[in-house]
Amino acid sequence: MTEAVAKGESTLLRQARDKFVAAFGREPTAASAAPGRVNLIGEHVDYCEGFVLPVALPFLTIVVGAYNDTDECRILSILASGQEVDASFPATSVAALKPGEPAWANYVKGVVANFPSKVRGFDTVVVSDVPMGSGVSSSASLEVAFFTFLEALTGNRVDPVEKAQLCQKAEHEFPGMPCGIMDQFIVTLGKKDHALLIDCRSLVSTQIPVDSEDAVILVVNSNVKHQLTGSEYPQRRAQCQEAAKKLKIPSLRSARVEDLEELKLQKCDELVLKRAKHVVEEIARTEEVAQLLPQKEFDAVGQLFYKSHESLSKLMEVSCPELDELVDIMRAAPGVYGARMTGGGFGGCVIALMKKEYVDIVKENVISQYKGHPIFFVCRPSDGARILQLA
Ligand code: GLA
Repeated sequence: MTEAVAKGESTLLRQARDKFVAAFGREPTAASAAPGRVNLIGEHVDYCEGFVLPVALPFLTIVVGAYNDTDECRILSILASGQEVDASFPATSVAALKPGEPAWANYVKGVVANFPSKVRGFDTVVVSDVPMGSGVSSSASLEVAFFTFLEALTGNRVDPVEKAQLCQKAEHEFPGMPCGIMDQFIVTLGKKDHALLIDCRSLVSTQIPVDSEDAVILVVNSNVKHQLTGSEYPQRRAQCQEAAKKLKIPSLRSARVEDLEELKLQKCDELVLKRAKHVVEEIARTEEVAQLLPQKEFDAVGQLFYKSHESLSKLMEVSCPELDELVDIMRAAPGVYGARMTGGGFGGCVIALMKKEYVDIVKENVISQYKGHPIFFVCRPSDGARILQLA
């Protein structure tokens, strides 16, 4: 398989509902959906309060369920392979909830623990076609889908920005991943045919129209599994905090280019300096892309994509040989304005901004030159999380 095709909301909902009826012997009463995402630019800057520009994808996590009149929260999850996994935990005292095994259930536990009102026991079925371990936020998709399901179940509707923050907190506390706010924010607030410029300091966001007629975003999954719960991501975050501390500013968002000279004068650690340079320049690139994209200045946007990738590879050191190889193939391919890795890095996907009519040729180039097994999809900016009606 070289093409990832989104199954669509109604197919996934039907699958989840049929499974629920078969497993629990009654109809579900509440349902929700939440997408995955790719980030156009603004990488490894959200935890420095910078600007990011992600889009929500048509791939979805769907949750259906109902109260079960017990104190037990039960989850039955159908993986893309068709394999079924389940988990359960008590809802009696939220304060008593602790991370544990199976690891995937921690995303759900974290959401239940952080939901702003008491949750009674429930039965749920989860289905998802968001590619896992591919850097397109299958975790945030699961968290936000579950949070949205709880909103539908309890009738307690939460402000979307607060919802994104609570899901981020869930990820910090339960799976233990110190992520920024980008993923949960776009998964919650994404809009069809738009990218979202998020100011990760004020949490104010602006919808930026993305015209998919002239240029498209081709996503290439390197098929190198990315794992962010290791030490690399927290290390980058800590290095950026160290730079901000040295400059006596709350975060690198407040740093200017001159401050990099100041860090040099302070004989700051070489790695810390490189990380700070990436963040300061990447924030500026993101603001520029948000201006240029609606004006269809695709050549200029493409050059900023390449610069972003180089910086992520050389300064932030979060790329890997396969992602670098894919960007090099894109650089030599016809009709490509620019390309870069997207997401946390160490595997996952590359995106290319390119002319629509060259998509097939570029795919052929990648298939014949890339040493790994690529999977493609053209990114259609889609809607964020929503409650689904069970008619
Ligand atoms: C992961 C994190 C995000 C963000 C990206 C890198 O996806 O969850 O918060 O930091 O990496 O931009």
